[in-house]
Amino acid sequence: NWDDVSVSKANLKEIEKVMKNVYIETYGCQMNQADSEVVGAIVKTAGYDLTNDLYEADIIFVNTCSIRENAELRVKKRLIEFDGLRKKKNWLKIGVLGCMAERLQTQLVEECKVDMVVGPDAYRDIPELLSQSNKKAGISVELSTEETYADIVPIKLDTNGVTAFISIMRGCEDFCSYCVVPYTRGRERSRDPQTIIAEAKDLFSKGYREVTLLGQNVNSYIWNKGKEDEINFAKLMAMVAEVNPLLRIRFSTSHPKDISQELLDTIAKYENICNFIHLPLQSGSTRMLQLMNRKYTREDYMAKITAIKNTIKDCGIATDIIAGFCSETLEDHNNTLEMMRWVGYDSAYMFNYSQRSNTLAAKKYPDDIPYEEKTRRLEEIIELQRELSLQSNRKDVGKEFEVLVEGQSKRNDKQLFGRTSQNKVVIFDCKDFKPGDYVKVKIVDCTSATLFGESL
Ligand code: SAH
Ligand code: SF4
Ligand code: F3S
Repeated sequence: NWDDVSVSKANLKEIEKVMKNVYIETYGCQMNQADSEVVGAIVKTAGYDLTNDLYEADIIFVNTCSIRENAELRVKKRLIEFDGLRKKKNWLKIGVLGCMAERLQTQLVEECKVDMVVGPDAYRDIPELLSQSNKKAGISVELSTEETYADIVPIKLDTNGVTAFISIMRGCEDFCSYCVVPYTRGRERSRDPQTIIAEAKDLFSKGYREVTLLGQNVNSYIWNKGKEDEINFAKLMAMVAEVNPLLRIRFSTSHPKDISQELLDTIAKYENICNFIHLPLQSGSTRMLQLMNRKYTREDYMAKITAIKNTIKDCGIATDIIAGFCSETLEDHNNTLEMMRWVGYDSAYMFNYSQRSNTLAAKKYPDDIPYEEKTRRLEEIIELQRELSLQSNRKDVGKEFEVLVEGQSKRNDKQLFGRTSQNKVVIFDCKDFKPGDYVKVKIVDCTSATLFGESL
């Protein structure tokens, strides 16, 4: 309770001793979640404690996302709340990490009165910045061509003890015209595979049963390029799959232009590599894809989907779609809807186009679809996906799946929830099962979002 905090001169020394609680709040993609765990490890090693309780915090870090304007607005509102907390606790330090830190830099100090701004490649500087006692804000936003934090063992925050992320690369050089990531995350670089395997083994020994390998475009993972012992993404997947047959492997995200037959064969070969691919479409119109600089056509994308369906039995397929990109016509939009039906996606993340300054699109193409029209198209996309998800789930009723239990169902504590290999959520009765167990479940009912089953 903030009202209880009063600072007298006598107990200032005491406070200095204990003002070491770090609270980390994370926004944005899974890479940011993985990064927050790296930051957790860095501050812990430097002698700080981590807390889940905002009101116990002496230092607040917000790991932020710039992908759409809304993401940034949310964080800015939150920063105002945090600034308010300082009125009761004047030693409180507030730091912005992640993509907004990289994009906005000193602007965050001026506008949002934060004490620290640390970009995605500068997290090793955090202890140094924290120890500076002067009043000036600490800023470190240099991007690197080499940093992968490979030697840092992340500290799991907010974990279910069953599923974990492993960051296998950083940065992105694809420069999709709408996207800020290449600017906020810098050059693409891959992490030493031995450290990835070591992390997977360590997680398995601690009871984890699923790892998701993370990168902005995992298909371009490459180690020792051009050398005899070159390791590409398919080879890395096989190496992680060999860690233990009881460890499930997933990956995110894969760019359609780079997904290879070798990878599909690897997924098909290993039982413990999940039959699930997230393959962002963005648009079903070749003209839009060209403006987006996605480097594939509608036909190329369809060929990849056909290859997936021919190679991997019962593969779940998910996607990302952007509605109302620059100059999108109704015909372009209908191409997207048509493609969604053709693929029959199991799930999708769907967004209104949000113009980001300095991107290729912001420089070259007017953001000319009115907000209401973008939203109308987006709603059509969302409604279609709801139908497709329901159709896909209905096909599973009556089938049996191996489900990895992740935890208790939020709605009913006598039920558990877990996922199928295809990444669908299944709810079923607890009996004696616990998180981390593999359970054979027969599906008896569904909604568009969830399967309901009975354990066998
Ligand atoms: N690297 C991943 C995507 C990361 S961003 C990939 O290429 O698959 C996640 C999703 O956000 C993208 O797939 C895209 O659909 C969406 N997105 C990115 N920039 C956007 C923007 N400016 N406006 C709206 N959606 C955007
Ligand atoms: Fe952005 Fe494209 Fe890179 Fe994905 S691949 S992060 S959408 S630039
Ligand atoms: Fe957002 Fe940065 Fe991830 S912009 S989506 S947090 S890479």
